[in-house]
Amino acid sequence: VADLGQNGIEAVTLVEDGRTLPAEAYTSEAVLAEEYSRIFGRTWQYAGNVSQLTEPGGFFTSRAGRIPVVVLMDNDGAIRAFANVCPHRGHLVAQGSGCRRTLQCAYHGWTYNLDGSLRNVPRAASDPAFDPSGIALTELRAEMWGPLVFVNPAPDSRPLADVLGGVPELAAARDFDAARFPLRATRRTEIRCNWKVTVDNNTECYHCATIHPSFARDYYVDSDHYLVTAFPETFSHHSPMRRPDEGASEITPDFHLYYVWPNFMLSARRSEYFYTYVYLPLGAGRTAQLNEYYFPAEWSDEQVAAKVDDIETIQHEDWGAFENVQAGLESGMFDRGHLVPSQEELLVQFHRLYASYMTAV
Ligand code: FES
Ligand SMILES: [Fe+2]
Repeated sequence: VADLGQNGIEAVTLVEDGRTLPAEAYTSEAVLAEEYSRIFGRTWQYAGNVSQLTEPGGFFTSRAGRIPVVVLMDNDGAIRAFANVCPHRGHLVAQGSGCRRTLQCAYHGWTYNLDGSLRNVPRAASDPAFDPSGIALTELRAEMWGPLVFVNPAPDSRPLADVLGGVPELAAARDFDAARFPLRATRRTEIRCNWKVTVDNNTECYHCATIHPSFARDYYVDSDHYLVTAFPETFSHHSPMRRPDEGASEITPDFHLYYVWPNFMLSARRSEYFYTYVYLPLGAGRTAQLNEYYFPAEWSDEQVAAKVDDIETIQHEDWGAFENVQAGLESGMFDRGHLVPSQEELLVQFHRLYASYMTAV
């Protein structure tokens, strides 16, 4: 792994007018290692929905960058997050989701209270050389946008509401209420691309007319109708439905998309349903896309499965593009791409934000 140091990182993240980040930003494991600490170590990342935590001891597990996370409801009913890493030898403590009065590590059986404090260490009482003082799970910050729980590993991070900017207000004005729908399905897909390829793609609808024929039939994808609203670390897309007399296949609700730096998206069809995305980096050229689908409670399981398949048709179109782009980025025949500024302005904003985090001291 190359040693990038501060100067190396500055070279890799330098933003040039009208050009993308260099290929190395998308292909280097050393860059990803820096991103884990400089970006994923100090930003708000979506962990899950508070509706999964109905009583004290309710918990679910997730990831913030490379950090395994457990989110739980403590004995006072507060939502808290901890690094899901046992201070004994590093085993993950909680697995999956459930409800427990205490969290027990499966490896040697150490147990923790719901405030993260160490509760019991088997066979340690008779060991005069063992000192339990100061041993606890590391707490992370946990804050919510409605029922959506975000965690942040940095104790001094700005509040989530600051980062969300005008997005919650904009979404509410469009009658969006995340608490209205239950979680009906989850999907996990691994994609052979860098996580930033996914975000680059989602900043623009320049690609919609070419790779998303069904979307482009039902929605306006030209820049006169497909509207973007940018805030410093979030943005929104909005496209109105074309009517059947304009060529659309059926009446479907307006398309709304919200992005939260660095790797979260929420896609809503007006106020009728929504789904979330997390793009979790697994390696420089490998990303997991985690989706949660929130649909009306009255939809049958068959309706849920059919709608997820329908949405995944468009996602497959993107995944194919992501893997093709990654192949070009890794080819040695490409360094900085050439942008069309009027079509890719949010991509430029994303790269500037990226550079500011990667070079902050
Ligand atoms: S690693 Fe958790 S009890 Fe040993
Ligand atoms: Fe797309």
